[in-house]
Amino acid sequence: MKPVLQDLEYLARQAGNILRASYGQQLSIDHKGVIDLVTDADHRSEAFLLGEIRSRFPGHKIIAEESGESAGAGGQVWYIDPLDGTVNYAHRVPIFSVSIAYAEAGKAQLGVVYDPMRDECFSGQAGHGAWLNGNPLHVAEENILDQALLVTGFPYDIRTNPQNNLEHYARFALRSQGVRRLGSAALDLCYVAAGRFDGYWELRMNAWDIAAGGLIAEQAGAYVTNLAGSADYLSPQQSILAANPQLHPQILAVLNHQA
Ligand code: IPD
Ligand code: CA
Ligand code: CA
Repeated sequence: MKPVLQDLEYLARQAGNILRASYGQQLSIDHKGVIDLVTDADHRSEAFLLGEIRSRFPGHKIIAEESGESAGAGGQVWYIDPLDGTVNYAHRVPIFSVSIAYAEAGKAQLGVVYDPMRDECFSGQAGHGAWLNGNPLHVAEENILDQALLVTGFPYDIRTNPQNNLEHYARFALRSQGVRRLGSAALDLCYVAAGRFDGYWELRMNAWDIAAGGLIAEQAGAYVTNLAGSADYLSPQQSILAANPQLHPQILAVLNHQA
């Protein structure tokens, strides 16, 4: 049994409804680290998604942020982030999403990122394109780094790991039009796909953060690689850079101290 894009859209919208219903309410919050949170809404969204996928697609492997990896054979893998942007959500900042990707043989085939506060459903299918609420998406055409609006994020071990992205951030702040930090990697990638941002990079990401958004950005015309320039950004703890084809090499050169 193979999913179609509408299956992922249905799942992401339903999970998004769960998040929207609890948004701004009293939450139970646990700390996974000093600044890394998980709320009961993360757990409820994930429980819904796992239940649906297990019953409709038995045998598929699921890699989900809060419950880890479940068994499954056949190379059919789901990557689930039930709430991307938990820190925003816990602070009642309305920038967060549900991210769902379906991959076969190590390559994402379908991806959906849903922003329940704006009712924006970003989707992508390998070889077919990317859409926002059904309308085709294309990356921006900006090719001058000085005029490019970029977005990035910072790892939860920012206080203890010297590779914390602060140096890259400082350099791009001086070389681009500006660098934003939205707090949802999945939306960062979709905003590159939609041409709202010209480029996005981040270090040490997990596949559930970037599998769906990476596919959507690619299908909208972005180059998506890790910081070594390889397209393998789905293996664990990968860096990622997504930008239009003109800007991608310019940003990569700055990240690798070659420009
Ligand atoms: C985080 C967000 C954030 C990014 C972090 C992610 P979470 O995911 O995507 O923008 O900077 O690297 O871990 O914890 O909100 O699911
Ligand atoms: Ca995430
Ligand atoms: Ca999450």
